[in-house]
Amino acid sequence: TGKFTYDPGFLATASCSSKITYIDGDAGVLLYRGYPIEQLATHCDFLEVCYLLLNGELPSPEEKKTFDWTVTRHTMVHEQLARLYQGFRRDSHPMAVMVGVVGALSAFYHDSLDINNPDHRQISAFRLIAKLPTIVAMAYKYNMGQPFMYPKNSLGYTDNFMRMMFGVPAEEYEVNPVLSRALDRILILHADHEQNASTSTVRLAGSSGANPFACIASGIACLWGPAHGGANEAALQMLMDIQKDGGLEKVGEFIKKAKDKNSGVKLMGFGHRVYKNYDPRAKLMQETTREVLAAVGAENDPLLKLAMALEKIALEDEYFVSRKLYPNVDFYSGIVQRALGIPVSMFTCIFSMARTVGWIAQWNEMISDPEQKIGRPRQLYQGATKRDVVPIAKRG
Ligand code: CMC
Repeated sequence: TGKFTYDPGFLATASCSSKITYIDGDAGVLLYRGYPIEQLATHCDFLEVCYLLLNGELPSPEEKKTFDWTVTRHTMVHEQLARLYQGFRRDSHPMAVMVGVVGALSAFYHDSLDINNPDHRQISAFRLIAKLPTIVAMAYKYNMGQPFMYPKNSLGYTDNFMRMMFGVPAEEYEVNPVLSRALDRILILHADHEQNASTSTVRLAGSSGANPFACIASGIACLWGPAHGGANEAALQMLMDIQKDGGLEKVGEFIKKAKDKNSGVKLMGFGHRVYKNYDPRAKLMQETTREVLAAVGAENDPLLKLAMALEKIALEDEYFVSRKLYPNVDFYSGIVQRALGIPVSMFTCIFSMARTVGWIAQWNEMISDPEQKIGRPRQLYQGATKRDVVPIAKRG
């Protein structure tokens, strides 16, 4: 192609250099700032991982305390922003609401427009991490027709989110620590994943100098697609459809359909652009699924049985084996979230809440990089060659 390489889907192009997340897709390794995801998911809470992604090092106890305090101070949203929700239909998809509301944050925080000031970048990062749970929970409450729950800053990040989602003003809400820890783990597992489609979108949007709230809104829009963050919703929907259609005995038939390119059906929650061995997040998620189902007394959940039967058949099937298709993080995350009481339409919102820290860390890294340039891919033009316009009166 002469001066540039044709690489649709960026299969062989590194768009940036980064020090944040490392993936070895063949070995099934995922590291945030050098630390294995398994260890982070075991020893850390989500805000600790946020600190790590943003700053490059795990916090000392003192640094963690200050970080938690600072994030917590920013959990409320402006009352005018709360009124923005009223403009949406109650039955709007919450991701549609999220794109609008997060994009609108820049109308409230004018300092975010000055991206060359590191202090302004930092406060935007705190605001985003702190406000996303409030904004997600408000999207849910609006959908349900229930009053918004204000954040309660004496609670930890995930407990606070659960209370804003499931609490009502009329009653005290008691957080179940097993469920809260499971959700916190979901957030850790989704916090960053190097240059995936939505992160690349955030970087591309940011490369023009756009403000961080606009950039994160563009990431949320990209994440919504079923090939990316929408996969957890699509995977659970798939399981529920098979269940409705006859359950376990229909698994074989479904797998046959998923292998047929003309059927339009894919085994959702399977396959990954980078992981060609296994997705380490899927292993952790399967563990969490069992813990949560046990905690809510649903060990015999038919959807879990269905998922395991699908996984078993697919892992032995030549079609999936030869294409190196393995369960990804979203294969099980839908089952966990459903057991936590989170409705299917909210799954991708939770993903966006978790990924916000990754997006903002990547955005900040890009802005601080002296080699940063506006992202401007080239194309392989295949349209008409130069020709003359025939005035409309003389056409056809
Ligand atoms: N079910 C059936 N066939 C599949 C699937 C699947 N889930 N995934 C890939 N294939 C086939 C695909 O048709 C192709 O076949 P062939 O070589 O004969 O043309 C081959 O496997 C390679 O797939 P690809 O689409 O070229 O691979 P990709 O790297 O472009 O796409 C993917 C990766 C994740 C988009 C894709 O595997 C997929 O659509 N999976 C289902 C959706 C999903 O679970 N997405 C979540 C990804 S993890 C969460 C996240 O990071 O967002």
